[in-house]
Amino acid sequence: MFKKNKNFYTDVYGFFVLKKKLSKKRIETIFKLLRVDGTFKTTFDNRMFDINKKLLKYLNKFFSRKVMICDFGISSGQSTFELFVDLGKSKIKNIYGFDKQIYFQLYKFKKFIFLFSLNKDLLMVEYDKYCLRYRYFYIFKKFEKILFHILSFMKIKFVISKVLVKDFDKIDKFKFFEQDIFNIDKKYYNLFDVVRVSNLLNYTYFSEVELKKAISNIKKISKENSVVLVSKTKNKKKNVGSFFRKKSGKFELLEDFNGGSEIKELML
Ligand SMILES: C[S@@+](CC[C@H](N)C(=O)[O-])C[C@H]1O[C@@H](n2cnc3c(N)ncnc32)[C@H](O)[C@@H]1O
Repeated sequence: MFKKNKNFYTDVYGFFVLKKKLSKKRIETIFKLLRVDGTFKTTFDNRMFDINKKLLKYLNKFFSRKVMICDFGISSGQSTFELFVDLGKSKIKNIYGFDKQIYFQLYKFKKFIFLFSLNKDLLMVEYDKYCLRYRYFYIFKKFEKILFHILSFMKIKFVISKVLVKDFDKIDKFKFFEQDIFNIDKKYYNLFDVVRVSNLLNYTYFSEVELKKAISNIKKISKENSVVLVSKTKNKKKNVGSFFRKKSGKFELLEDFNGGSEIKELML
């Protein structure tokens, strides 16, 4: 029925529900194909070791007490876990992992798997364990709300699960919540000493107006004197980013890493 391309073998039911052990490469493929609006959950292990080391330098320089950290756009949670390890747990009071989409509802109907967010947005469709791409996916996406109602009406069983690759949320000091960077709950305002946003605030994903809105929200959740890191992993796994400090309610540049963030000017 649909052309099978081995690059799109995802088997999300096996991975998320049956907890099948998959190779790192397969797991990367799943996250590369899992979409949230115009973004994907692309992530891979040990992606930010070098830039995390630099962040640790600022942590040691500016904070003598334990800090509250926010990692925005956590995908599988793996890079948040690595941040925790790289910075050292003795320095961390809590680490909050925010993402627009952490939980999903999975419907299995014959050879189809439909993955919806809790808001009923269609995230992925599989046929016979292969992820549908391009026009095949867009056809389903166009009718996502109707599709959701049909599946509910047919009383197709569904499973609610989360995208975290391990039980990171059971680790002491870790807290994971669904939060949209464009609409953050006020209870998180003025809470964090350190905020990291990696591989989310890019021009390929968002317009300048949207990026400015996201930046103003980061400003709201970060405390005075907080450190903010905005970064992106480029081709060949090279991290580029900028470190900022919030002073008198504004971001000041501390340092550019490998040339700096593409949205640096919008931050300042
Ligand atoms: C490319 S992944 C980056 C994952 C991780 N930070 C890394 O660098 O490996 C982007 C993440 O941002 C999340 N995301 C997309 N739009 C978002 C929004 N409006 N608010 C919060 N998170 C969002 C996606 O769900 C996805 O997990």
